[in-house]
Amino acid sequence: VLDIGAAYGETCLEALRRGATDYTANDIEPRHLKILARRVAEDLPSKLPNLKLISGGIPHPKFNDFIPTSSLDAVLLDSILHFLDPVQVTEALHQIFSWLKPGGKVFALMGTINLAVFKSEVRESLERDVKTFVETVKTQGQIDPKDIPGFTSNVSEDFDFSICPKETLEAQFNFSDGRFFRFHLETAKYLFETAGFIIEEIVYTPINTFPYKLNGRERVAVFAKKP
Ligand SMILES: C[S@@+](CC[C@H](N)C(=O)[O-])C[C@H]1O[C@@H](n2cnc3c(N)ncnc32)[C@H](O)[C@@H]1O
Repeated sequence: VLDIGAAYGETCLEALRRGATDYTANDIEPRHLKILARRVAEDLPSKLPNLKLISGGIPHPKFNDFIPTSSLDAVLLDSILHFLDPVQVTEALHQIFSWLKPGGKVFALMGTINLAVFKSEVRESLERDVKTFVETVKTQGQIDPKDIPGFTSNVSEDFDFSICPKETLEAQFNFSDGRFFRFHLETAKYLFETAGFIIEEIVYTPINTFPYKLNGRERVAVFAKKP
């Protein structure tokens, strides 16, 4: 299993506890991986031989030196793809596809435009852009990844500061440098399918906490497999 953006290892520790024997944790922040490794060393020392660490941001051509083609059973992308732009998501999904064994699975969870922190007009405008995107894909079959709607490199200009103070919101998003890709069920479906995956399930899931809770569609979850 490869856990991309594993952070402090919540999922990793649980997987090792439940018997995972070959778990690779990746993160762009080496200090997150240090914390993860320390937690495993302290809480589950006998499981250390079952853990590998890969530091760096996906997509990354060098990762192919450490992760052989068709070697993985599963890849986890929990709350990480929305920090990439659609060109990077396309590259990342192509890499992941190549690393999975046939029948291997990917599980992904991404933020959407339906977070209460965004201005309603931004949400409405993106809904319109996604409609146009769906029509274009229907007529043209494919679209240049950079034209897939939803990405911003300055997320703070789309925040509704009447919901939550500016400093609180910017502090929560500052580690991504203001970059945020607001996914939509349609754009997520397109990105996974064009990378070659078969989607087994794709659903909106809620975030029920302040300041994000809006309408039950705050995140989109994708369960897909390599044929
Ligand atoms: C919101 S946290 C999610 C943590 C964990 N997956 C979870 O769901 O609890 C995002 C993590 O992804 C990492 N990250 C951000 N961009 C990344 C990239 N391009 N490649 C790998 N990790 C990345 C961050 O350093 C952070 O630890």
